[in-house]
Amino acid sequence: MVKWLKDAVFYEIYPQSFQDSNGDGIGDIDGITSHLDYIKDLGFNALWINPCFDSPFKDAGYDVRNYKKVAARYGSNEDLYRLFGEAHKRGIHVLLDLVPGHTSEEHPWFQESGRQERNAYSDRYVWADYAWAMKDRPYVAGECERDGIYMLNFFKSQPALNYGFGKQEEDWQMAPDSPAAIETREAMKDVMRFWMDRGCDGFRVDMADSLVKNDTEEKNFTQKIWQNVREMFDRDYPNCVLISEWDHPSRSISGGFHCDFTLDNPGSGYRTLFRDYRDDPANKGSNPAILSKDHSFFRKDAGGDITRFLDKYLPQYEAVKGKGYISLISGNHDTPRLRRTLSPKELKVAYGFLFTMPGVPFMYYGDEIGMRYIDNLPTKEGGYSRTGTRTPMQWNHEKNMGFSTAFPEDLYLPLDSSEDAPCVADQIGSDDSLLETVRSLLRLRHSQEDLQADGDFAVAFAKPDCPLFLYQRGNLLCGVNPSSSAVTVQAEDITGEAKAQVLFLIGEADADSDKLTVGPQSFVVLK
Ligand code: NOJ
Repeated sequence: MVKWLKDAVFYEIYPQSFQDSNGDGIGDIDGITSHLDYIKDLGFNALWINPCFDSPFKDAGYDVRNYKKVAARYGSNEDLYRLFGEAHKRGIHVLLDLVPGHTSEEHPWFQESGRQERNAYSDRYVWADYAWAMKDRPYVAGECERDGIYMLNFFKSQPALNYGFGKQEEDWQMAPDSPAAIETREAMKDVMRFWMDRGCDGFRVDMADSLVKNDTEEKNFTQKIWQNVREMFDRDYPNCVLISEWDHPSRSISGGFHCDFTLDNPGSGYRTLFRDYRDDPANKGSNPAILSKDHSFFRKDAGGDITRFLDKYLPQYEAVKGKGYISLISGNHDTPRLRRTLSPKELKVAYGFLFTMPGVPFMYYGDEIGMRYIDNLPTKEGGYSRTGTRTPMQWNHEKNMGFSTAFPEDLYLPLDSSEDAPCVADQIGSDDSLLETVRSLLRLRHSQEDLQADGDFAVAFAKPDCPLFLYQRGNLLCGVNPSSSAVTVQAEDITGEAKAQVLFLIGEADADSDKLTVGPQSFVVLK
């Protein structure tokens, strides 16, 4: 296992919206570099930067036109190399976002692939040579000179790269070990090598489970591809890491990933923690109807139940223990921001949990100050309902809240216009702020090996009808109570050793050798 992951805490940056350094209204690489001290001082020691490569931006950069070139709007490759260097000087590792399942329809590989005359890229994507062949799959017809139709991996602008079919049912479906499928894999490894040779520390991998079509239930053929990639990492880049967007740790970790994200998918245990309100299919904003349906565990008195999370989490945790890590996230560029439904007080308790669970935690930029989800924004670059989560970082009370010197109407997205929009300047140094809570939680995690990625974890107290959740981390006992009432538990009802000395506290707690009381909306670590 890569050593630095053990104490890694990631900060995710959506480059469009973090800091504009040249006044054109959109964030850029130099803007990120200028805030590395801020990130480090908060206690984060690793970054994940969303795609920053050349792209027509029909899906915010997840439609890559050139994997080896930084998009002009973000700066140059040299700017990114400088970012790697400056980050490393500060002990910060940097992951880029790899999109291996599809490219932009404007990628030169695809342009070649769409030609009628056979060429080196004819089989780089999934094509069928007669229309109507892909009855059950999203495909595009009528766009290229080639006599064929091609499969999509996500949006219309994202043709699926060809890694073969686990089970080939039609003659146009190639095997995963066909030369064309192997070439696609090798081309993606070449992209990875390009960036790692220049100082990048690995990748967050987009839709990592999507490569081989008609794969087995366990996705064995897709796993095989990643095992092959992992061999390259272990051999040539032993300090670099692969983190998957897969949401199935037992599969992704045996496929070779170092970490796997838990995601905000319907039915996932993760959702029951923070965002259990999307029975509103249109997902149209933070209206009262959504709030009244919210049963998230971390929402005060909303009838949440930690066992709904644990039922899903524990089997996965056990399956990957000692082999790889689960990454819990505060959110990402695809999820509604937590602040949409959770108050700063609720967030503090939630963050207590996030930063003391095993595995490698991730925080999305702005969540440290409780940035809001902005309702009803017109969709931007394929963002749709995700757009409200991607607004500019709020630094201070200067022009455009310190994000950019451009005219407000030229900003990539509008800023939170509410009078009490949170910002970094207001929270720095203010002891009870969310930002300072994040800082002290990260200080705690870095100072206690037991709280880090592979410290032991065991449930100490969890019941469906009780808001208190206790868990052992090595020799420490952590407790969260998101509800409005204090909860007392007798020592004999706690699995493992009860502890009495308070090491860290948000809210109130009282412990002796007989019992433990965790106050309303409180988080405690005992030793
Ligand atoms: C998952 C990414 O997180 C999302 O933003 C993107 O739209 C899709 N994959 C397609 O690449």
